[in-house]
Amino acid sequence: SIEEMENRVRKIKKKFGERLFIPGHHYQKDEVIQFADATGDSLQLAQISAQNKAAEFIVFCGVHFMAETADILTQDNQKVILPDMRAGCSMADMADIDQTERSWEIIQQTFGDTVLPLTYVNSTAAIKSFVGKYGGATVTSSNAKDMVQWAFTQKERILFLPDQHLGRNTAYDLGVPLDKMAIWNPHTDNFEYEGNIEEVKVILWKGHCSVHENFTVKNVENIRKQQPDMNILVHPECSREVVALSDYAGSTKYIIDTIEKAPAGSKWAIGTEMNLVNRLINNHRDKEIVSLNPYMCPCLTMNRIDLPHLLWTLEELDKDNVINQIVVDNQTTDYAILALNRMLKQS
Ligand code: 13P
Ligand code: SF4
Repeated sequence: SIEEMENRVRKIKKKFGERLFIPGHHYQKDEVIQFADATGDSLQLAQISAQNKAAEFIVFCGVHFMAETADILTQDNQKVILPDMRAGCSMADMADIDQTERSWEIIQQTFGDTVLPLTYVNSTAAIKSFVGKYGGATVTSSNAKDMVQWAFTQKERILFLPDQHLGRNTAYDLGVPLDKMAIWNPHTDNFEYEGNIEEVKVILWKGHCSVHENFTVKNVENIRKQQPDMNILVHPECSREVVALSDYAGSTKYIIDTIEKAPAGSKWAIGTEMNLVNRLINNHRDKEIVSLNPYMCPCLTMNRIDLPHLLWTLEELDKDNVINQIVVDNQTTDYAILALNRMLKQS
């Protein structure tokens, strides 16, 4: 039964004590997050990993790229475990390293040595390593503005991987006009741009989040029509059009902080992953909270981490069996850590 599984998790956690650490991303299910030793957005989880020197086993409740980041930032003797290897991220998969190297060559031919690559942490370790090698950094949705600003102190232009929406929303907020941004399509090896390419300041990799893409202009218009006194709060992985029509946009931590500070009786339509929206609804009964898209939008890969998988990895650990370990090779780590540290230094 669920209760038996929960008891078993508690028992193993108690037995391992400080040797075991369970970080959990805000999009994780309640059945998992209840056992997290720390919860956070992507930036907080990276910071927590970088600081944790004590835990021998880090059972990461999030997706594959987050576990890779944890492995890069922790010591050699610390083992990072992902409870379900199928917990990937469709956005991270939209920038593959061979495609990126090939694209970089064309971008260099077009712009010379004037471009700094930045990657959203929602990317593979190989992409972080690529970015680190060429002087760039990682960014998360909570520090993207600072990082893009920093990037422009280094080079005239940026290449932003792999989320075109976070890249566009951030650059726009910093005053880069939309007509100075080009989409790079890695499938056609071409820019999607109508003007003079030399005027481009921001090159946006053509990737997106399949969860946040589900929040549409139509959803915003419906809320505005039906409930004009509702505040609309979205994640910057939503499209430029949706962010522009919303009242507030920010990372998952920003969304949580905004709702916590909001007065009782206030009304909110939130455009982010289902588990977080449901948790906010349950934790803030004094406020009226709905999902911006009335059909709740789950991240199916995040949701693969569930109580049975968490228990399974812990039970194996208890039998001295490390399963589903995430290991980033040393060469990849050496450059990826440069990209991550450039970010952590600015945050
Ligand atoms: P943040 O944790 O930076 O808000 O990112 C959201 C997300 O999509 C994680 O995969
Ligand atoms: Fe990837 Fe989007 Fe899921 Fe985050 S919410 S893990 S970006 S697919």
